[in-house]
Amino acid sequence: MRLRRDPDLAFSPDHTGRLVCTSDRAGCVRYRDRDGLFRRTLEYLGVPRALSEVEKELRDPAQPLGHTRSTIVRLLADGLVVTFVNEGDTEIATGRMTTRIGQLVKPPTHDSRPHLQLSRFTAIRRLRRHLVAQNPVTGGVVELHQPALAGLLAQWATPAPVHHICAPSDMSATAVKELAQMMLALGILTHSSDTHLSEENTPPHQFHGFATAWAHSRSRDGLSLYGPTQPEFSHPNDEGLPGPDREDNKPTGPETKAIIELPKPDLNRRALTDPSLATLMESRKSRRSYGQTPMTLSNIAELLYRVTGARSEEDGQNPNKRPVPAAGGIHEIEYYLTVRRCEGLAPGIYHYRPHDHALTVLNTDTEHIVALIDHSYRALRKVAVPHILITLTSRYPALATKYGDLAYSLTLKNAGVIMLALQLSAEAMKLACCPVGSGDAAVFAEATGRQPVDELPIGEIAVGPRAEEDELSP
Ligand SMILES: Cc1cc2nc3c(=O)[nH]c(=O)nc-3n(C[C@H](O)[C@H](O)[C@H](O)COP(=O)(O)O)c2cc1C
Repeated sequence: MRLRRDPDLAFSPDHTGRLVCTSDRAGCVRYRDRDGLFRRTLEYLGVPRALSEVEKELRDPAQPLGHTRSTIVRLLADGLVVTFVNEGDTEIATGRMTTRIGQLVKPPTHDSRPHLQLSRFTAIRRLRRHLVAQNPVTGGVVELHQPALAGLLAQWATPAPVHHICAPSDMSATAVKELAQMMLALGILTHSSDTHLSEENTPPHQFHGFATAWAHSRSRDGLSLYGPTQPEFSHPNDEGLPGPDREDNKPTGPETKAIIELPKPDLNRRALTDPSLATLMESRKSRRSYGQTPMTLSNIAELLYRVTGARSEEDGQNPNKRPVPAAGGIHEIEYYLTVRRCEGLAPGIYHYRPHDHALTVLNTDTEHIVALIDHSYRALRKVAVPHILITLTSRYPALATKYGDLAYSLTLKNAGVIMLALQLSAEAMKLACCPVGSGDAAVFAEATGRQPVDELPIGEIAVGPRAEEDELSP
């Protein structure tokens, strides 16, 4: 472990007593350093130290670094300190923390030759121009400066002690040991799944999946190296990408020319007769059974208009004003109707255009309609076959242009907002409505020609006429 190699790295207290660290490349970082731990740690790591030596210091409260594990994590995350492994004079791997709230995993004290294994959260991948091994749960990342190290790491797919690992011929046993130690500290490697210390047997980790851990690490600031809003890979100039309004509602797949203009509801009149919000919140429930009298074209037109019909003209200021809020005001979510039964609207798959308050016909093929409806019927406990399925898709690239990796979690939140708005509006209109937890992205892509790279299907909601027995009960 050592201070970053930056000839102009300097640290000294400012007039408020904070320790100010400045460096050309790391910028300026300030620490509240009442007990002098940051200063002591930086001075101590001014001389490169073996990780085992640092570990020993950390374990002993009498030593200058005793118990300053979090100080080291902070310095690693801020890039002022790195861990490294050398082979001769060459640095073959460099380790860092990607988050200030990460953890340095303690080496076992009882077992000198523990069986190690790759963490199930670790991914070995390209990050910009580097090959890295990274664990989003511990926050550790190791840059592998030699491709052969990936082969070395791969051997830890199964549990093995360090001395069983075959290293490249030019790598010493000491370097392999130091690499393993660094990988263990940063959580790239973990204890064998056969031991009680393993991730598989430790409660909080047990329940996390690989994809969830990675998605979460990019959904908030403070959890990853560059922050979720700073894309890991640079985008071309914003101008070239689909932005908020420039490409609004431009179909990303085939559309027919057939357009169905929808009637606009008189919302002033509705305001006189709609139940209050408090009443709707209390009476709302997920309704999965339907009445005999089908919904009409004007019902579905009203439902869509209440939730997402563009209000730009009335607003005058915002060219994309809608009733539902949306991250960044981009309104990247598109609405598709799969209609099985609706008076005035033939069975088919339609795309809603909020600015025109119109539908375009995408597909009238019965097989596709049945496949989409049937999937929702099964998800809704086979209570009744939905009359209309609304599929929400996300023009994700439009949101990612502004928010980078944060966009995925934002678009799911936007879908949640829409689901509630649809349900409350359906409640006001005395319709039956239930969100659907899962749809089939492949069936949807086949039916609509929308490819998930352009538009991700992210939510469904089934609607229909309210069942007669439901009419009586709230
Ligand atoms: C995101 C989301 C997904 C849902 N997915 C389903 C589903 O796939 N099948 C289903 O029958 N209900 C689904 N529901 C409805 C819930 O089961 C329902 O909201 C919950 O049981 C509470 O009942 P209530 O809405 O009547 O208060 C979903 C609700 C939400 C918010």
